[in-house]
Amino acid sequence: MSEFDNAQSSRGKREDALVGEELFSRLKELESRVRLLEAERASLLIEREHYVRDLEYMRRELEQVRSSPLVEASVVETLSDGRVVVHSSNGPNLIVYVSQGVDANALKAGTRVALNQRGSSVIEVLPKLQDVYVKAMEVIDRPDVSFNDIGGLSDQIRLLKELVVLPLTNPAIFKEVGVEPPKGALLSGPPGTGKTLLAKAVAAESKATFISTVGSELVQKFIGEGARVVRELFELAREKAPAIIFIDEIDAVGARRMDIGTSGEREVQRTFMQLISEMDGFDPLGDVKVLAATNRIDILDPALIRPGRFDRIIEIGLPTPEERKEIFRVHTRRLRTEGEVDLWRLASITEGASGADIRSIVLEAGLSAIRRGARSVSHSDLETAVSTVMHKEKASKSGQMFI
Ligand SMILES: Nc1ncnc2c1ncn2[C@@H]1O[C@H](COP(=O)(O)OP(=O)(O)OP(=O)(O)O)[C@@H](O)[C@H]1O
Ligand SMILES: [Mg+2]
Repeated sequence: MSEFDNAQSSRGKREDALVGEELFSRLKELESRVRLLEAERASLLIEREHYVRDLEYMRRELEQVRSSPLVEASVVETLSDGRVVVHSSNGPNLIVYVSQGVDANALKAGTRVALNQRGSSVIEVLPKLQDVYVKAMEVIDRPDVSFNDIGGLSDQIRLLKELVVLPLTNPAIFKEVGVEPPKGALLSGPPGTGKTLLAKAVAAESKATFISTVGSELVQKFIGEGARVVRELFELAREKAPAIIFIDEIDAVGARRMDIGTSGEREVQRTFMQLISEMDGFDPLGDVKVLAATNRIDILDPALIRPGRFDRIIEIGLPTPEERKEIFRVHTRRLRTEGEVDLWRLASITEGASGADIRSIVLEAGLSAIRRGARSVSHSDLETAVSTVMHKEKASKSGQMFI
């Protein structure tokens, strides 16, 4: 090996040592960095733990703030800085903040809102009052029932056409002749005889909105609010006019009361008075009519059936044999039958049945045809259904259980 070669190799060794040293120190450096990062990670984990706990706490707090009784208020004005002026039911107007999460665009004059317990900010937008009360009512813009769907009741239909449909569709005639049409009519008769059906057909025929409510619900479900619901009912009818208001089971509101000592009775009385005043208040030539139904006309307060109120009483009894035949005709119209169906025979064996019973009979016959795998209903299906339904009827009327 030459001297030159020796010099070369010792330089190479020195250089290798240098590289090794550098790598070593770099390794040390990285190791300490890892330790540092690990420590940092540990402390971040601890911090995260704290935040999670804080968040939990805040959530619980928020839950509590939300669940404690809130103050109902209505918006008077919204201010340019985002705050709103509200009128709370129990005090002066307040200027309050709007919490995050509340849609500021929904806040208009008159909007119902909930304030937090301290009354310092709006935390929720409440539904419109009417929406709440409208739940007590069924509103059908255009019922799809026609007089053709009613079997029998031709006198009652004629009366309703004169008393309700004509004044709604052609009030000018009444003005010209100079007579005042009635404000509505009272349908009186046993359950299932077609009172609701008639009211719907009248609304459909006069192209009016049908708004119905049930007397017993007004006094039981909306305790303390019955009078308000009645007011809303008439307001809604005026808004959606031409409209027909239908009050089923009016006896629950309008029964004669012997004493009005209990608070429940006083409440019913208030609802009743509101109804009377609404009836007195509206224009007979206007485009709102009121129909009511009862199966206890004997207990009604005479004030309710005084002229200007429900002064037209339309009696609806259980159907005669001829009417039963007609009702069978209506309900079997769309039925696929096999062979002849003797409607007279069916009418003759259903003494005492109501229209609703006849509907059940036809439904029952259809079901039994399906059960035996047939695609159409036979006369004997119908006869069997008659005995099933009539037996059920009799049992329920005599208070027995039918299994
Ligand atoms: N005259 C009828 N013609 C055709 N179907 C009828 C007749 N009467 C009753 N029905 C049938 O019976 C169903 C119930 O009738 P409806 O609800 O009108 O009785 P209602 O007199 O209002 O009874 P309730 O006093 O129990 O309220 C109707 O939907 C209809 O199918
Ligand atoms: Mg009814």
